[in-house]
Amino acid sequence: MYTYIVRGGNKLNGSVRLKAAKNSVLALIAASILTEDDVILKNCPDLTDIANKLKIVNSIGAKALCGGDDIFINARNARNTGMSAELARTLRSSFVLLGPILSRFKEAKIYLPGGCRIGQRPVDIHLDALEKLNVKITNHETYLLCDAREMRGSGVTFKFPSVGATQNVMMAAVLAHGTTTIQNAAKEPEVVDLQNFLNAMGASVAGAGTGTIEINGVEKLHGAVYTPISDRIVAGTLVLAAAACGGDLTINNACPHHLNALFEILKDNYCEIEYSGDTIRVRSDGRLNALGEIASEPYPFFPTDLQPQLTALAAVCLGNTGITEKIFENRFGHIAELKKMGAKIYVDERARTALVQGVDALYGAEVSACDLRCGASLVIAAMRAKGISVIHGVEYIDRGYENFEMMLRGLGADIVRVQECKRKPLQKIFDK
Ligand code: UD1
Repeated sequence: MYTYIVRGGNKLNGSVRLKAAKNSVLALIAASILTEDDVILKNCPDLTDIANKLKIVNSIGAKALCGGDDIFINARNARNTGMSAELARTLRSSFVLLGPILSRFKEAKIYLPGGCRIGQRPVDIHLDALEKLNVKITNHETYLLCDAREMRGSGVTFKFPSVGATQNVMMAAVLAHGTTTIQNAAKEPEVVDLQNFLNAMGASVAGAGTGTIEINGVEKLHGAVYTPISDRIVAGTLVLAAAACGGDLTINNACPHHLNALFEILKDNYCEIEYSGDTIRVRSDGRLNALGEIASEPYPFFPTDLQPQLTALAAVCLGNTGITEKIFENRFGHIAELKKMGAKIYVDERARTALVQGVDALYGAEVSACDLRCGASLVIAAMRAKGISVIHGVEYIDRGYENFEMMLRGLGADIVRVQECKRKPLQKIFDK
């Protein structure tokens, strides 16, 4: 168990280089079991979610390992049995293995991922769509048995553009007979990346990035060497951190157009954002005007995965910002912690809205991350706050940010990681 100790007040100056997007890499690892050939994914971050996903594919007989920033996977000896139940239940993205397992083996036993701290997160959209593809599903309380021996392409229409369901159906359909058309598909860049990867393996998928995706089943897929898109959520977190703390930050290897919704929110404010090619530059003196009325929505709108970090920025803006969480029913866990640092935020749980009344300053406090993006939000607030903060629950942050404290220290932040049981008195850590 690790804790961050942060002394706030430093601006963020310098440059960073992004690694591949966690949410893309997790889907591409699943897709890698569609072939018996070697797959290499380049520029991948060292994250616990990715390490756990690799353990899950190893548990079904694939050979998956990391070498530097590359992930190597060979699934020649993969089976459709033996999946680690414990890991599968804790890592929601294990559920997107269902599509590729059905595609390759025609039968699957898959554990239900269960709810998590940000909401219930059901899987009905995935299952309704697979049934449309003629997959027979029997529910056994904690797991499902799926029979895809008669699977064939079909038209499916999602009631909501779930990213996970879109990825699952794309991977199920890729080796099925016939054509599958997904209507109201998720348009997230990670879905486009999956399409590009599948096509690099010899698949026939088109339309990702729009609401309609067409998959023509093929006989067989082959190996590929592939560099996934960079992480737009890490990039957005850094943009918001620089906006809140002030400084001059350059982010390299970015896909700036993936962040258009965030740039739209920050434009015409005291935060200058320039981008060209794969570089984003943010300059701010750390005091913005309020951000208006913001809602998290499916891509291309503002992403739920940046809502907690945006709330931290809004907490130190001049004036009131309204925030509505439209994707998850319980994604305001960061707010109670931000309030411990002096933020003024009023939540209407039923309406999933928060009214943030910006304050001049936040103050160091002892707080706990309750999920990954909550952790990132608290780090931004702590770097902006006066005094020292203690942030518990760094293991959540490790799920999605590689060596976050090292990256931030490189930009001038005062942040250290300490082991929970060996915590030194706060002042001593910084006076060394
Ligand atoms: C969502 C985000 C994605 C983010 C990921 C992890 C959107 C559209 N997607 O992905 O960007 O990276 O979380 O934080 O913002 N739902 C159902 N039935 C289903 C599947 C989903 O009702 O079968 C509902 C969920 O209750 C939730 C929403 O759809 O309200 C998103 O659910 P989920 O599938 O968990 O997330 P993704 O869309 O995969």
